[in-house]
Amino acid sequence: KEIFLKDYKEPDYFFEKVDLNFQLGEETTLVFSKIFVSPRVEGCSAPLVLDGADLKLIVLKVNGEDVKGDDFHVDSRHLTLTSPPSGKFTLEIVTEICPQKNTSLEGLYKSSGNFCTQCEAEGFRKITFYQDRPDIMAKYTCRIEGDKSLYPVLLSNGNLIEQGDLEGGRHFALWEDPFVKPCYLFALVAGQLESRDDTFITRSGRKVSLRIWTPAQDLPKTAHAMYSLKAAMKWDEDVFGLEYDLDLFNVVAVPDFNMGAMENKSLNIFNSKLVLASPETATDADYAAILGVIGHEYFHNWTGNRVTCRDWFQLSLKEGLTVFRDQEFSSDMGSRPVKRIADVSKLRSYQFPQMDNFYTVTVYEKGAEVVRMYKTLLGAPGFRKGMDLYFKRHDGQAVTCEDFFAAMRDANGADFSNFLLWYSQAGTPRLNVVSNYNAEAKTYSLKFSQEVPPTPGQPVKEPMFIPVALGLLGSDGKDMPLSSVYHDGILESISNNDQPTHTTVLRVTKKEEVFVFNDMLERPVPSILRGYSAPVRMDSDLTDADLYFLLANDSDEFNRWEAGQVLARKLMLTLVSDYQQNKPLVLNQQFVNGIKSVLCDSSLDKEFIAKAITLPGEGEIMDMMEVADPDTVHAVRSFIRKQLASELKNELLITVGNNRSSEKYEFDHQNLSRRALKNIALAYLGSLEDAEITELALHEYRTATNLTEQFAALVALDQIPGKVRDEVLADFYDKWQHEYLVINKWFALQAMSNVPRNVENVRKLLNHPAFDLRNPNKVYSLIGGFCGSLVNFHAKDGSGYKFLGELVVQLDKINPQVASRMVSAFSRWKRYDETRQNLAKAQLEMILSANGLSENVFEIASKSLAA
Ligand code: ARG
Ligand code: ZN
Repeated sequence: KEIFLKDYKEPDYFFEKVDLNFQLGEETTLVFSKIFVSPRVEGCSAPLVLDGADLKLIVLKVNGEDVKGDDFHVDSRHLTLTSPPSGKFTLEIVTEICPQKNTSLEGLYKSSGNFCTQCEAEGFRKITFYQDRPDIMAKYTCRIEGDKSLYPVLLSNGNLIEQGDLEGGRHFALWEDPFVKPCYLFALVAGQLESRDDTFITRSGRKVSLRIWTPAQDLPKTAHAMYSLKAAMKWDEDVFGLEYDLDLFNVVAVPDFNMGAMENKSLNIFNSKLVLASPETATDADYAAILGVIGHEYFHNWTGNRVTCRDWFQLSLKEGLTVFRDQEFSSDMGSRPVKRIADVSKLRSYQFPQMDNFYTVTVYEKGAEVVRMYKTLLGAPGFRKGMDLYFKRHDGQAVTCEDFFAAMRDANGADFSNFLLWYSQAGTPRLNVVSNYNAEAKTYSLKFSQEVPPTPGQPVKEPMFIPVALGLLGSDGKDMPLSSVYHDGILESISNNDQPTHTTVLRVTKKEEVFVFNDMLERPVPSILRGYSAPVRMDSDLTDADLYFLLANDSDEFNRWEAGQVLARKLMLTLVSDYQQNKPLVLNQQFVNGIKSVLCDSSLDKEFIAKAITLPGEGEIMDMMEVADPDTVHAVRSFIRKQLASELKNELLITVGNNRSSEKYEFDHQNLSRRALKNIALAYLGSLEDAEITELALHEYRTATNLTEQFAALVALDQIPGKVRDEVLADFYDKWQHEYLVINKWFALQAMSNVPRNVENVRKLLNHPAFDLRNPNKVYSLIGGFCGSLVNFHAKDGSGYKFLGELVVQLDKINPQVASRMVSAFSRWKRYDETRQNLAKAQLEMILSANGLSENVFEIASKSLAA
């Protein structure tokens, strides 16, 4: 049954305190729970409904007495106390669970010999009967008992208050968390783990022990994660005044984990790929992801844990805000414009096409864009005031996105008109801009009109509040100073907040409105939506000449990159239509020159150059087409890459040569930028498929001292079919077979290949000894990777869709969450031609008809079919 926001009801009962006791066993685990219940309204005697899944009820007591058969009721999802006592009471429950058999990786499960938990969103109900909803905030104690040699380390949330040995080789630990929390933040870990230890002293002098736990052999790979954690703790103090609030902070890395990581109070649990790194086994991208996610989970301590969500419709309250915070953290630790470019690319490739759902790019990244707009409108000091008020009002509470909005507004006395629509109105607004220069009146006007496309269930939309950061460039390429603007005929002075000088933020709030600038001695070139100040799709009447001018001159680096992207998108769409009409493909020389001048501009940051010479993704282009045509888009993008490589071969070879280094690997901006530029140059060259390049790439592969460069060489070689490619792939496997995180990249690389009929190879890889359908990372690499191949996933004979359909059904029996993430590759099936539509639809129908389908997969598959 679908649940709607409007159905939210306050709970009838609160839980004040929960004492848990786990008896860990090899077959089954017993969970003892003692809950102190109090009615929300004095004298209430409504039934108390607890959630539960896959639980065996052993004992049920109220106020110490067994509950009689008439007074409770159990079904497959609930335990209901039909007539609880009025007033406060204690509830004792004993359940039996089987963590060893739990392949869903939700609740308590055993992974590679260790016990661990994942309770967000609704996993706690697989541990014990509970009101499994985030507005039930309680204080917890947790006692864990288990075999001492198998599970020497026993961890839970909060402070360790007691531990000791028991009979029969067992031992126990008792943990107490002094902060109230919802059950989704509960965590337990037990196993053979060792820790890297460090300390952080907060600015008010609290000495915090930091421990990162892994199996012993992985400990050397936790140095970067520890560095990242300390940097995050410092950053949150400096930027938001937020300090850590306990004396201990644990991070545990586990190899089997559905998502990236989880912010459980003082016991963060991570997918090991987001903790473990060494120069030889992780790339710069992995190092950057670890920094960002360690930061993200740490930042949740305030934005998520101290202040949490009232219900799961408010997920963006904590995730949007926390993604925004981790983006800002990574920006401050590296290059701000490049981080912004990477984040916007992600939003464009994944969020724009997405349906609404739970843990998605919509909730996370678009949520972060909405938070970013508050900062754009208020400036950094105003935003900080809003954050301070948010914590002052809501510490220890479970709240809503409207509460966050109200804190931002009230702290600044701001007028946010219809800003709240960003939370309720789905779809990406289209913003159209028409400019006009009146040489006689010396006025320059920009007319904005906006439209929000209809989405399922929301046929008619209101205009949104769109902050448009704007600069106007003179013919000298410099920003013109701006002081006032006529907005709908009224003179307004221009506010800069903390935007760079000469950038102003226009508030676009109506379906159509005009802004007029006076005293313009020449026609300026507008730089609109600087830094991507709102998550909209923009069309404008900028000419190609304007765009090349911005590419060469804009002081806003984001818009410099964006100008190149707009030009590339236009070019790609033109070539797509030529290709479809069987016209020969010709690459525009001005575009080649534009790319060349960026590539050769030594004044530019190398990481920026690498981004600026990367073509828009295939998905982005398909998204702009009436009917998505994967074969054509792939052919066109490959053609442009190859053409650029051939015309700029010399420059690219020089770039590779100039950016080698024999120094020891460092993850710092200078070195990672150098590697990024070298690697993209090599990737372009690889598209040439010639012998000289094969030699070069092979040389890079053999001499590389870090995975970033070695893997890039492998990727370049992977484009050149033949004996060398096959040998190198085999060599790479031999070399790294004992490093499962590296082998996942090897799986992904082969899975994503656009070599025709690669589906056969992927089917073979399913049986490779290193593959395991029960491990989510391996599934994401091999099956997820395959779904990223335009040519093979969307093969016109339906072989790709059939492969995914079969796998989803198989996977659903093991892990419904992972299966549902895979099935979402079908969600855009209506964007394709009729043949593909029918093939994809048939697979969705096949999946829906499968016996015992999980709710997770049912939800995504049925919504996709109905969309
Ligand atoms: N709150 C976690 C994070 O943002 C994500 C956990 C989602 N996990 C899940 N199984 N739904 O880092
Ligand atoms: Zn999060």
